[in-house]
Amino acid sequence: MISRRVFIHGACGYVLGALSIGSYSYILEPRWIEVKNVSIEINGLPERFEGLTIAQLSDIHHSNYIPREFVRKCVRYVNKLFPDIIALTGDFVYSSQKYLSSVAVELSELRAKEGVFAVLGNHDDKSSTFDALTMNGINVLVNKSVPVYKKNEYVFIAGVDDLWVGNFDLDKTLKDTDDKPKILLCHNPDAIEKIRNTNVDFVMAGHTHGGQINLPFYGPPFIYSKFGNRYVSGLFHEGKTTMYVNKGLGTSIFPVRFFARPEITLFTLRNNNQVV
Ligand SMILES: [Fe+2]
Repeated sequence: MISRRVFIHGACGYVLGALSIGSYSYILEPRWIEVKNVSIEINGLPERFEGLTIAQLSDIHHSNYIPREFVRKCVRYVNKLFPDIIALTGDFVYSSQKYLSSVAVELSELRAKEGVFAVLGNHDDKSSTFDALTMNGINVLVNKSVPVYKKNEYVFIAGVDDLWVGNFDLDKTLKDTDDKPKILLCHNPDAIEKIRNTNVDFVMAGHTHGGQINLPFYGPPFIYSKFGNRYVSGLFHEGKTTMYVNKGLGTSIFPVRFFARPEITLFTLRNNNQVV
């Protein structure tokens, strides 16, 4: 029979364990930014774009729980990486559009030689987010591609409207492109099934928050994808396309992260033909 003392010790252990996990996932991990360096090989990358860097931020979800100071900290982190391009892959606020103007003002401090580009996510009100970001110097791509030049060479930066709440139109997005490399911002990685057989070279996605809560030996109990955990985070090679799914910076529904640290990704582009 278990003695009363052993039972009390055991119960205290469970309570302390639960409190520690709760504090870690509520206070510590959501603020513990991870910078990931990822090399991306692209066929036919023009010589002047060899070594070009792109910093990706996603799912900031500025809200009561993700305060303006945290957004400012993320912006400082990114600027210290001195990226050539910055890509913002949607979901700028959570729960209310009242946070939109402050997140847009903070993002106006982002610095990148070749520009800051954004697409909208399923939490973003289309017209007000477009206006707020545009007014703060961010190039919002809604089913649109733009060439980025270095002297006489160029690549395309493209962005699609959100798959769930927008008018996702890949044909319209790519209609003004040619055979030069195409880099696509796309909030929802589920879109890969439509992208994988196009001539898009590289896709930056977010949306999944890396599962946000990852239980040991189980993985994420909640993931908003029709493919389940398949595209939860990281690098995927699909058809002719490479896709990277960023874990995002903020949270939604539950204000916690567990084994899914907030992420800033720094991509370095390499010409596939030059990789030894
Ligand atoms: Fe999100």
